[in-house]
Amino acid sequence: MMTTLFTDLGQYKRWRDSLDGSAIVGFVPTMGALHEGHINLMQRAKRECDAVVVSIYVNDLQFNSQQDFDKYPRTLSLDTEVCNGAKVDVVIAPNKSDLFPHNVEKLIEPSASALDYEGRDRPGHFAGVTTIVDALFSSIRPSKVFLGLKDYQQVCVIRDMAAIKHPEISIIPCNTVRDHDGLAFSSRNRFLTKNGRENALHIPRALNQVNQLWNDGMHDVSELERNAVQLFNAVDGVDLQYVSIVEQDSMRHATVAREHDTVLIAAIVEGIRLIDNVQLLSV
Ligand code: PAF
Repeated sequence: MMTTLFTDLGQYKRWRDSLDGSAIVGFVPTMGALHEGHINLMQRAKRECDAVVVSIYVNDLQFNSQQDFDKYPRTLSLDTEVCNGAKVDVVIAPNKSDLFPHNVEKLIEPSASALDYEGRDRPGHFAGVTTIVDALFSSIRPSKVFLGLKDYQQVCVIRDMAAIKHPEISIIPCNTVRDHDGLAFSSRNRFLTKNGRENALHIPRALNQVNQLWNDGMHDVSELERNAVQLFNAVDGVDLQYVSIVEQDSMRHATVAREHDTVLIAAIVEGIRLIDNVQLLSV
């Protein structure tokens, strides 16, 4: 079966209403420019659900500058092919006026999980994310939502919003997918030059180093974070924004690092903001 593309929410609603009431509908929200990370989410959704829906919507509310919004790659026909290859049932690429018929009167305030890190460095970003995701959840009516853990903080923020506004929906965090060189797949990687990509590899290297040090017995969070900062101080071309260890499944800063806590890194390379993280695991 070919993937069906809807650009009209009315058409989508008719399709959604035609499904059996007990059907499990899996949903992968995206802004397009699809890559292996997204394909992994679609495949997991396919395994766990009766029907899979992918949304493609470049959400102006979550960008910090008009320039970034304009620059964001828009590749709808290619993306639809990717979804077709992953046997996705429906792609929905709605218009803003369809999603927000009364305009966006008030943004949804994100939980405390949004306060630090990306939330601090990108004011308003998470309010934009929670507002669009809430609107998508209301229109798509999914049973399960598959989100990539590369955006760890986003997963926490969406999970908190859904627990209050859409408690019937299960949020399924999915592991980060990495390219052959270790760089986490991201729509932004395409903006890196060859040299920039080489520099960006210091991010997964630093994450692995922290995991190694932790496995070797270093459990003091300040010491682990200091080691990662030193690694970045020794290299050119990577502007570290933060390195931080947070407690399992939360955005609370840890003091003693435990298994399943998450190491977060954000860095700017060639003007591109890159984020990545790794969960501390015993090897
Ligand atoms: O992760 C993304 O692509 C976006 O933040 C999302 C969840 C689709 C909301 O616009």
